[in-house]
Amino acid sequence: MTRLSVNINKIALIRNSRGANLPDLRQVAIDCEEFGAQGITVHPRPDERHVRYDDLPILKEVVKTEFNIEGFPNEKFLNHVCEVRPHQCTLVPDPPGVLTSSEGWDTINRKEELIPIVKKLQDYGIRVSLFLNPEIELVRAAKETGADRIEFYTGTYANNYHQNRDQAISSHVIAAQEAIKCEIGVNAGHDLNLENLHFYKSSVPSLLEVSIGHALVCDSIYMGLNNVIQMYIHQLKR
Ligand code: PXP
Repeated sequence: MTRLSVNINKIALIRNSRGANLPDLRQVAIDCEEFGAQGITVHPRPDERHVRYDDLPILKEVVKTEFNIEGFPNEKFLNHVCEVRPHQCTLVPDPPGVLTSSEGWDTINRKEELIPIVKKLQDYGIRVSLFLNPEIELVRAAKETGADRIEFYTGTYANNYHQNRDQAISSHVIAAQEAIKCEIGVNAGHDLNLENLHFYKSSVPSLLEVSIGHALVCDSIYMGLNNVIQMYIHQLKR
């Protein structure tokens, strides 16, 4: 089974645009789970333009499935994550001010930097995943950091899906096979949508989780969150 973790950052962005509490992020997280989401993901960025650090304990209290916090591991981020203790923390190498995460860790050259961070989070009982481009050497080095999982960056796959989906998926399949050999779990995310999700899920072996935000929230404008969550789950199950 591949879990659907709904990234609710874009909901927070709408809330923040007016300064009050509409939509109520806490209620949206509760409702996403009610509608079938198997996890809730948030990505606090340094400028807190989407989810804010003070949202984290409130969400931890209500999320009953799996709470995943993504982000760049600066001191502030790590302190918040260790205090909140989500089920999973996905580390991303984003520089401050970036629009969105568009590449994974260089686990070969940054291995020594990552090892103590991974260990610290695990000591707090948090599963650690590293955002990664789908390359064999990076998967091997990710395993050597001690991380429990990797999350493949799927933006390039999504961009190339319509042109040649077999070619777009091939590096993901090879890297996932390596992950199975190394005994590290595989998640995936970025730009997954109702068109490209099923092919991804049915091609990549042992895919544990996808986290999806932007397309899912855009689809919800037309079809409603309840319908859309069911539709994404259907793509993962069919
Ligand atoms: N994974 C990571 C590490 C991300 O930064 C994001 C975007 O916040 C996603 C997954 C989800 O991407 P999308 O919003 O395109 O579904």
